[in-house]
Amino acid sequence: MRTSIHVLEWSSIYMTGIQSIDKDHQYLFELVSKVLMQLTAGREVELLPLQKRLNTYAAEHFMREEQLMQRYLPDWEQRAGHVREHRNYWGWIADLESTEAPEELAESLKSWWSGHVLGWDKAMGLALQRALHS
Ligand SMILES: [Fe+2]
Ligand SMILES: [Fe+2]
Repeated sequence: MRTSIHVLEWSSIYMTGIQSIDKDHQYLFELVSKVLMQLTAGREVELLPLQKRLNTYAAEHFMREEQLMQRYLPDWEQRAGHVREHRNYWGWIADLESTEAPEELAESLKSWWSGHVLGWDKAMGLALQRALHS
């Protein structure tokens, strides 16, 4: 069994430059970290309500990003791909929950959020800043 500490720690490398998004991400990282801790501790009773909170907040957050893109970046070439990433998350996470062991699920969850923010969300942040300041 691996002994790595499963926390998705917030740091400035994740900043998109859009305050409302960064605030959302900090809260999402806290929720993901709580889910990771319960997953790896095998505490299913506490896990389910946390997963629900994460799913609800993630859905709201995805919508907020998509509304920002729709409003300020309607013709941006990455918009459709970004929205697709958000949509695919739900099928992907449901698959993982039904097939993977808790440790693997924790690793996958952590790397999705880290990767999505560092890739898609930071690119969106830059594009939004350009759009807002032009
Ligand atoms: Fe996103
Ligand atoms: Fe995001």
